[in-house]
Amino acid sequence: MARLTASASPHPHPRNSRRHTNARCSASDAAPGRAAPEGAYFVSGAAGFIGSHLVESLLLRGCAVVAVDSMDQGGPYPRDWKEANVALLHRVAAENAARGARLAFHEADAGDSAAVRALFAGGGGAAGMPPVSRVCHLGARSGVRGSVEDPAGAVAANVASTAVLLDLAAAAQCRAFVLASSGSVYGECSVDAAGRPVPSAEGDSTAAPVSPYAATKRAAELMAHGRVVQVDSIKPRVENAYGFSA
Ligand SMILES: NC(=O)c1ccc[n+]([C@@H]2O[C@H](COP(=O)([O-])OP(=O)(O)OC[C@H]3O[C@@H](n4cnc5c(N)ncnc54)[C@H](O)[C@@H]3O)[C@@H](O)[C@H]2O)c1
Repeated sequence: MARLTASASPHPHPRNSRRHTNARCSASDAAPGRAAPEGAYFVSGAAGFIGSHLVESLLLRGCAVVAVDSMDQGGPYPRDWKEANVALLHRVAAENAARGARLAFHEADAGDSAAVRALFAGGGGAAGMPPVSRVCHLGARSGVRGSVEDPAGAVAANVASTAVLLDLAAAAQCRAFVLASSGSVYGECSVDAAGRPVPSAEGDSTAAPVSPYAATKRAAELMAHGRVVQVDSIKPRVENAYGFSA
């Protein structure tokens, strides 16, 4: 995930300059000597909170990014917030084109196999976009409440999309697949003898998720299990990320 810095950014945001004066990464965050890898990154959920920070960070490193977001209205954030994120990403891509940054953003569901397959081959016709070599699957109906109100929608957004992207990544012989999972897979928080909450450990049981959202995240993890799908994957269990956004 992109680092949040206190440095001033060269990309003031027209809607809310706070994002770029206090919170966003800057070109200096691109580590010297870390050349952009061959091929493009495919990032789902790119208009969301973590996804937009990730794409911005990749663009500042001079990477090529094929980005999708379904602009899902069942999640916690409004559409205009996501549109502001996308506008910012286009601006960052333009400002960093000379160092190799490329951005192809498409409003699409990551579970739409036909649409996404076309994007893997070169960003859907975007000039200078190489084939996808790495996948970061952040797209999800991210709120617990939305998953309780519409469990089937959460399964479609979170699990079906994972199956489709794993399949495409394996076919494209992608080098890496990152799936954003969630600490919610651990279920109810454990407490010690004094009733104090105990942080979850990686080996804790994931057998009893307490929301449809958590269940979809565990299901997606299992879909990505290396012995089931032939693509190397890592599945960070994110816990309450926070920071500035548009
Ligand atoms: N933010 C956190 O604290 C936190 C904690 C645990 C896990 N996560 C996970 O990290 C990822 C990113 O979280 P976030 O906070 O940026 O969420 P977010 O809601 O800001 O972003 C998710 C984005 O995914 C999009 N989306 C939903 N379903 C999609 C689909 N099928 N295809 C394409 N796009 C889709 C939404 O429109 C949204 O813009 C999610 O997978 C989330 O479940 C986040």
